[in-house]
Amino acid sequence: MHQQYGGVFPEMASRAHVEAVVPTVRQALSVAGASWESINAVAVTRGPGLPGSLVVGVNMAKGICLARGLPLIGVNHLEGHIYSHWLTDGPWVQFGGQPPFPLIALIVSGGHTELVLMRDHGRYELVGHTVDDAAGEAFDKVARALGLGYPGGVAIEKLAHAGDPHRFKFSRPKVSGIMRGDRKATNYGGVYDFSFSGTKTAVLQVIQEYGGSVEGRLSVHVPVADIAASFQESVVDWLATTTARAVAAFGARAVLVGGGVSANTALRERMTARLAVPVSFPPLVLCTDNAAMIGAAAHFAFVRGLRDSLEMDVMPDLKLGN
Ligand code: KG4
Ligand code: ZN
Repeated sequence: MHQQYGGVFPEMASRAHVEAVVPTVRQALSVAGASWESINAVAVTRGPGLPGSLVVGVNMAKGICLARGLPLIGVNHLEGHIYSHWLTDGPWVQFGGQPPFPLIALIVSGGHTELVLMRDHGRYELVGHTVDDAAGEAFDKVARALGLGYPGGVAIEKLAHAGDPHRFKFSRPKVSGIMRGDRKATNYGGVYDFSFSGTKTAVLQVIQEYGGSVEGRLSVHVPVADIAASFQESVVDWLATTTARAVAAFGARAVLVGGGVSANTALRERMTARLAVPVSFPPLVLCTDNAAMIGAAAHFAFVRGLRDSLEMDVMPDLKLGN
């Protein structure tokens, strides 16, 4: 549906949730071979996200809790991306099978680019984030400008294989101290912040220089593969360099990468090469949005005794930490 319309339309998304939610819960139980009797709590994403879609999930979860007398646990979506790493063995054998604290989590998706310091379960501090576009959003916008489909990340990555990543230098704006809209500054004066909107604008300028597009068709003179490769290089290098600086500054013992953009092979290779501590990427099915990661985050809240009220509301702008 999103591919057909080139993006996510909130109204259509929430109505698709209404249709899908009951069959999805039934299917999950059946695939897991689980009965209602074997369930001891219900976890649900309460934010951040589109209000209409969040409401569908939260009401479904409350309905189950009411019907079965179960406790409700609201989870931050980004916390879910972090906890996807507890669903895999990862490189943690040396640490007794679990990621060691303190750690740095890099969440890179279509809606978020956040660098989070985690000192223990449930303790998050936002140390850096994007002041404008998310990394995935920039991939999607550049892909659209290059006449590729939605979502754009995969298309850019494929095209980049055939391109020269050093042909174009997309300079990095200095983001220290910038605050825009609802995005609050971190406690670190922007030294771990990103701004991918500037990179995207620089890409659009290069496309124009080579003839741009006329009547919706890209000029044949636009070097699409080199642009895709150089853009990807710029984003990947910025993410890896900034994460490495945060690891050094906070003495992190591991790095967890999550969100749709963590499927990117160039990012995986650069992060692994650049960092001195173990870096973990979940398998692809756990990189993109999924419910298993929400369950994993809720498990650790549950064992700490956390429970939410059945009056819990959705929080479309929910933040991690700070
Ligand atoms: O986490 P996600 O599945 O959904 C949310 O945004 O919450 O992330 C989707 C984003 C899209 O912007 C998509 O272009 C990007 O992840 N993405 C990629 C790749 N695969 C997906 N970006 C770069 N390289 C990829 N291989
Ligand atoms: Zn996500």
